[in-house]
Amino acid sequence: MFMAYNFIMEKNYLELINQEKLPKHIAIIMDGNGRWAKNRKLNRSYGHKEGANRVVDIVRASSDLGIKVLSLFAFSTENWKRPLEEVNKIMFLIVAFIDKYIDELASNNVILKVLGHRDELPRNVKEKLDYAINKTENNTGMILNICLNYGSQLEILDACKEMIKEYKKSSEEDIDSLTVEDFSKHLYSDEYYNVDLMIRPSGELRLSNFLLFQAAYAELYFSNILWPDFIPNELYKAIYEFQNRNRRFGGL
Ligand code: FPP
Repeated sequence: MFMAYNFIMEKNYLELINQEKLPKHIAIIMDGNGRWAKNRKLNRSYGHKEGANRVVDIVRASSDLGIKVLSLFAFSTENWKRPLEEVNKIMFLIVAFIDKYIDELASNNVILKVLGHRDELPRNVKEKLDYAINKTENNTGMILNICLNYGSQLEILDACKEMIKEYKKSSEEDIDSLTVEDFSKHLYSDEYYNVDLMIRPSGELRLSNFLLFQAAYAELYFSNILWPDFIPNELYKAIYEFQNRNRRFGGL
């Protein structure tokens, strides 16, 4: 007699990853929390709660692997249009994430940064983020960018405004000689601003105003898995696929 299994064992993608060819910067649009909850006849908040658990798993997995930058889209400038209860739940989960994991992040050498308009966030969230940023700023390991009240078009506009102010007394020659690198310094992100691998779970095929400038040469990876089901093996699978693509950056 043999047993019938109604599932197929997934490969262990961690074993297949080449440590020498890791993407430096991975960006993830954490999508599908609402649908995950709806599929279980639960309130959308449960989807965000389980999504926050995957944040913990994916941050640990990325840091352990040696990824330099992980950028997570937690709340967009457009997400304020959601019901207040849902907005509050996401803010609560972010504060709870810091409360519970800041010591672990700090001892694993992670640098926590926030990309987006912090000033418009509730005061308790802002204070908690400031605390986490200060506590980890002298670390030297993985940069964890939490993108909060973030929109890429706004980021590009902010960079332009800053540059106009900075260069308004400069000569035309100086302005003509500005480079993409000069511009990138005015973005919210740091020196590893180029995204190598952009991941979007949940079956949607859009970038949704996320790191548009930084993703100019990113490999795009779309998956039908909903974010609360996006376990580390899904991340390893995305990295494995990334490593098997042919990146030419416009060359041959
Ligand atoms: C998109 O799914 C998800 C969000 C807008 C929120 C993401 C937030 C978290 C994962 C929680 C906490 C974050 C941290 C950093 C601890 P959706 O609600 O649009 O899903 P749907 O498309 O299925 O409705």
